[in-house]
Amino acid sequence: MESQLDAIRRSFDQELGQARNTEHLEKLRIKYLGRKGRLTSLLRQMGKLEPRERPRIGKISNELKVYIDSRLQAAGAILSEDKKTSAGLDVTLPGRAFRRGSIHIINQVLAEIEDMFVDLGFSVVNGPEVEDDYHNFEALNIPPYHPARDMQATFYFSESTLLRTHTSPVQIRIMENSQLPIRVIAPGKVYRSDSDVSHTPMFHQVEGLWVESGINFSHLKGVLEAFVHTIFGPDVPLRFRPSYFPFTEPSAEVDIGCFICGGKGCRVCGNTGWLEILGCGMVDPAVYEYVGIKDESVTGFAFGLGVERVAMLKYAVDDIRLFFDNDLRFLKQFS
Ligand code: PHE
Repeated sequence: MESQLDAIRRSFDQELGQARNTEHLEKLRIKYLGRKGRLTSLLRQMGKLEPRERPRIGKISNELKVYIDSRLQAAGAILSEDKKTSAGLDVTLPGRAFRRGSIHIINQVLAEIEDMFVDLGFSVVNGPEVEDDYHNFEALNIPPYHPARDMQATFYFSESTLLRTHTSPVQIRIMENSQLPIRVIAPGKVYRSDSDVSHTPMFHQVEGLWVESGINFSHLKGVLEAFVHTIFGPDVPLRFRPSYFPFTEPSAEVDIGCFICGGKGCRVCGNTGWLEILGCGMVDPAVYEYVGIKDESVTGFAFGLGVERVAMLKYAVDDIRLFFDNDLRFLKQFS
């Protein structure tokens, strides 16, 4: 009888290995453990055994029964799990999440700057990135011998065609083609052959231009103060420092108080307590001649700011190249 039990176990193991679905398992259960099943039939013959043999055989049979039962259960669990994933739909599983993109930090800052100037009554205009020498340099009163035309800084296609090095050529195009008064900003990409922790060959500027009879330096100051206090916060100090641009006179650069040291002087601000954020000035009369504005009562101001520079200062980013590496670990912080 012992060998018969052993045979049952072996044939069960073999048949179980071939079971492919839960119906197969149910058939096996009936075949071995059912009322007329192999094990059950064998157990009915226990009475024929010698009484002293019964306890031992009884124990082995019982173990076999438990064995068959638990293997059938385990196989049932596995097969029904398979069925859920391959053939059916398990509505209790969580859905598949979409990876959502987000607006690049430079475009976010750009939008913030644009909104702020639109609120002040500026319109947004655009100009070409592939420019001619006349709009990028000459009409801005930058003569041929000016260092800004240095081959190292400008990407040229030919002697007269280039990638704009700043957004100021849009000033010229707007003044050539518009009625006064003009109150515009011109955001966009600009290109310079430059690359280090604070320079990339492509970056973004926002040009501003307000031309109208009676506009003076105090208007420029008021507009730029509004800009600094909206973008960096109402308590951030700013100062106008005399500077030079061929197309503005007088010219200035605007600095804001260093946010790292609070004005005491540190490595980031070069111990000055100030950080430069933009260039500006009153439109040089020479420029009006190039664009054909003859009315001498007409005055105006212009400014140009670097968007990456604003973003770096606003978010304490110490390497401009991070904006263009497209490393999600960096970009995700701004989503
Ligand atoms: N175009 C200048 C630059 O790129 C900035 C500027 C714009 C200065 C307008 C004055 C007026 O450096």
